[in-house]
Amino acid sequence: MSDIERLRESLLSAIEAAADLDALEAARVKALGRKGAITAEMKGLRDLAPEARQGAGQALNALKGEIAAAIEARRATLSEAALEARLAAERVDVTLPVRPEPQGRIHPVSQVLDEIVAIFGDMGFKIAEGPDIEDDFHNFTALNIPPEHPARQEHDTFYFAPGPDGERKLLRTHTSPVQVRSMQATKPPLRLIAPGRTYRCDSDMTHTPMFHQVEGLVVDRSTHMGHLKGCLSDFVRAFFEVEDVPVRFRPSYFPFTSPSAEMDIGCIRKGGELAIGAGDDWLEILGCGMVHPKVLASCGVDPDEYQGFAFGMGIDRIAMLKYGIGDLRGFFDADLRWLRHYGFAALDIPTLPAGLTS
Ligand code: DAH
Repeated sequence: MSDIERLRESLLSAIEAAADLDALEAARVKALGRKGAITAEMKGLRDLAPEARQGAGQALNALKGEIAAAIEARRATLSEAALEARLAAERVDVTLPVRPEPQGRIHPVSQVLDEIVAIFGDMGFKIAEGPDIEDDFHNFTALNIPPEHPARQEHDTFYFAPGPDGERKLLRTHTSPVQVRSMQATKPPLRLIAPGRTYRCDSDMTHTPMFHQVEGLVVDRSTHMGHLKGCLSDFVRAFFEVEDVPVRFRPSYFPFTSPSAEMDIGCIRKGGELAIGAGDDWLEILGCGMVHPKVLASCGVDPDEYQGFAFGMGIDRIAMLKYGIGDLRGFFDADLRWLRHYGFAALDIPTLPAGLTS
């Protein structure tokens, strides 16, 4: 076997033996690199006699071409194998469930709150928040409930011990103080809802010391009762997912609104069952009215320039109505069996396009 033949054999077998692309690159450098075997042979041609040089040169060029082709062929094979291996390693079984079934359930209060936020959010309302621990000014005085006002008694307020300045903080008895804070912080126009916890010293089938309310407030130059009525009618229709929900507004009294009203929605009672919709009975669901000029003034809003409407609604109560939950106390018992029964799937987030309750 000639030298060139031997070189060919050894280079080809090195190429064939390369197990991956790195090893193949090493073999290429050994054959064709600047210090490679073929390059060295090429350099050696100089020392040959001219008549021998031509034949040897042709043979080396042919070898160089063959080796380069062998390297390319091997590279293609190895690349394909590498891709196959990667595809096999990263294989996904698309028939598997996306995620394991979540174990937890969403509490009806959270669910209903998300529904309320979705509906009012769609109408352009922002979310406002205020502290659970309030002062007398925001919870009462600024809302036109001065110190000796009889409405204070009805609130069954939880007071804290007086501070060094003699001031007694309290747990807010309604979400209405968020109206005050929002008007103090932001100039009208305002369009907001303020959901949150509220507290009153009261406990029976339909009252718990901590409960949830959502407050609504719209203030602008020409806001009127018609806006209040349209907005709340749209809300109850969307919330109860019933096309025809008659509403009626009964005159009422709240110190912070004038005129004040209570809103009732139509319902049907049959054999101990209650359904929302056009029927022969009514259910009270919220208090509302036009923001009292004194309240606007207490919050730094000029009542000659602006007017607004407000409403306050019990979240627990409308959750009970919508989902047929009989006893309010179950909401706060932290009983897992209750939650499994009345709770909602964790990933079904209510949105208007997808439906509030799927
Ligand atoms: N704050 C009242 C309550 O807790 C509810 C309420 C009534 C809020 C009328 C309002 C309103 O904003 O306009 O009983």
